[in-house]
Amino acid sequence: MFSDVCQSKIKNLNSKIIKTCSHFGVCGGCASLDVPYKTQLSVKEQWVREVVGPFQPRTFLPILPSPDIDYYRNKMEFAFGGPKHGPVLLGLREKKKFNHVVNVSECFLMSPETVCLLDVVRHWAEKERLPTYHLRAHKGFLRYLVLREGKNTGQRMVHLITAEGMLPEASFLEALDSSQVPVDTVLWSRHTGLSDVAQGGQTKILKGAGVIEEKLGSLSFQIGAASFFQTNTKGAEVLYQVVSDFAGHSIDTLIDFYCGAGAIGLFCAPRVKKLMGVEIHAESVRHARENAKRQGVMQAVFFDQDADAFAKSPELLSVWQSPGTVSVMDPPRPGLQPAVRQLLIRHPIEKWIYVSCNPKALSQDLAFLAPVYEVEMVQPVDMFPHTPHVEVCVLLKYAGAGQARTGQSGYLTG
Ligand SMILES: C[S@@+](CC[C@H](N)C(=O)[O-])C[C@H]1O[C@@H](n2cnc3c(N)ncnc32)[C@H](O)[C@@H]1O
Repeated sequence: MFSDVCQSKIKNLNSKIIKTCSHFGVCGGCASLDVPYKTQLSVKEQWVREVVGPFQPRTFLPILPSPDIDYYRNKMEFAFGGPKHGPVLLGLREKKKFNHVVNVSECFLMSPETVCLLDVVRHWAEKERLPTYHLRAHKGFLRYLVLREGKNTGQRMVHLITAEGMLPEASFLEALDSSQVPVDTVLWSRHTGLSDVAQGGQTKILKGAGVIEEKLGSLSFQIGAASFFQTNTKGAEVLYQVVSDFAGHSIDTLIDFYCGAGAIGLFCAPRVKKLMGVEIHAESVRHARENAKRQGVMQAVFFDQDADAFAKSPELLSVWQSPGTVSVMDPPRPGLQPAVRQLLIRHPIEKWIYVSCNPKALSQDLAFLAPVYEVEMVQPVDMFPHTPHVEVCVLLKYAGAGQARTGQSGYLTG
C-alpha cells in the first residue's frame, strides 16, 4: 500500500517546477525558499564581503553556487512530537518554537524518498501506539529519526533515536520495507539524557553494516550514524576543490584540524607526502582511519583528541613550522579555540587555510590573527541553498617577521 502512495508522491515532488512548499514560513528548515537563487547568492556574497572587508583581502572571488539547489542534503534530523493521545508528528521544528514539530509532508532539502520514509515511520508509530517524546515533560519514547543518503552512491541509512524502552524491532523493519524505498542500514540508539540533540548513547544495528558509503569525486568514504560529513555532497566537492587549490602542489605535511571523517585531508592527499588530522569525535576518527585505508593513503595519522590540546602537543610542534607544512582549519561554529589561535600567533606558518561555516566567528578569529597573517584569497561557497548559511574558504599567508612580532606583543591574551 505504502509503496504506491510513495511512488506517486516522489513523482509529484519531482515534477514541481515552481517552488512552493506548504510548510514555508512555519517550518524552521528553509528561510528563503521564496527568494530567487541568484538573489540568495548575491546576499550571501555581500555578507561575506562585509565580514572580510576590514582585513583587506588581496583577492575576493565571486561566490560559487551549490551544484544542486534542491534535494541537496545527504543528512537530515527529524524530531517526533504531537499531543499525548493525538496523531504522531514527525518533521522539523517550527521556526523559533523548539517544542513544536511541523509534520513534514514535502521538503526541498532532502530527496522525495525521505518524505516517504517519514510517512511510513509515522504510520508505524501510530499503529504500535508508541508515545512521542515531550521535551518539557521529559516523557515519552520516540525522539528523533535521522536519515542519511549517499548522493553519489544511493545508499541510505535510517537511524531511530528513542528514550529508554522496548522497540518493536521487527515491525519497524517491516514498515520500512513496505515503503519500497531502498534502505541499506538501520540503527536504533537510546538517548536517555535531557539534551535536545539527535545523538544516541547505546546503539544497535538492526539491519546492514551500520554505515553507508558516499563518494566525493573518485574517493569513497564510510560514514557512521554520528560521524561528521558535509551535508551537501556536491557542494563539498566544490568546497574541497577550492581548499585543494589554495593548498597548492607538493605539500610535505598537511595538518587537518577538526578533520571529521578525514574528508578534506584525503581529498588533498594526492598532493601531500604526509597527512595529520585531529578530531574530538572518536567515531569520526575511526572512520577517518578506515577512509584513509580505503583510499590507499598510508602516510596518514589521525589523532583522537581535542584540537586545543593537540595544538600544544610535541607530535604537532615537531612538524608544524617545517618548510612545506600547510594547515587546514575547519572548526565548528564557535571558531578556533584559544590554544589553536595561540599556536598560529606564537609559531606562525607560511600558509594555512581557514574553512568557516560561521562568518561571525571567522571575523573574530581574523581580527585576532590579522597582524600576523595576510588575507590572500577569499572564496565563499554556497553549501546551503534556501537557508541563510554560507561557507567561506580563506587563504592566509604569514605577513613577515616584523608583523609577527607586533602580533606577539599585542595579541597574546585571547
Ligand atoms: C565543521 S566540521 C569539519 C569536518 C571536516 N573538516 C569535514 O569537512 O568533513 C567540525 C569538526 O570539528 C570537530 N570538533 C568539534 N570540537 C572539536 C575539538 N574541540 N577538537 C577537535 N575537533 C572538534 C567536530 O566533531 C566536527 O567533526
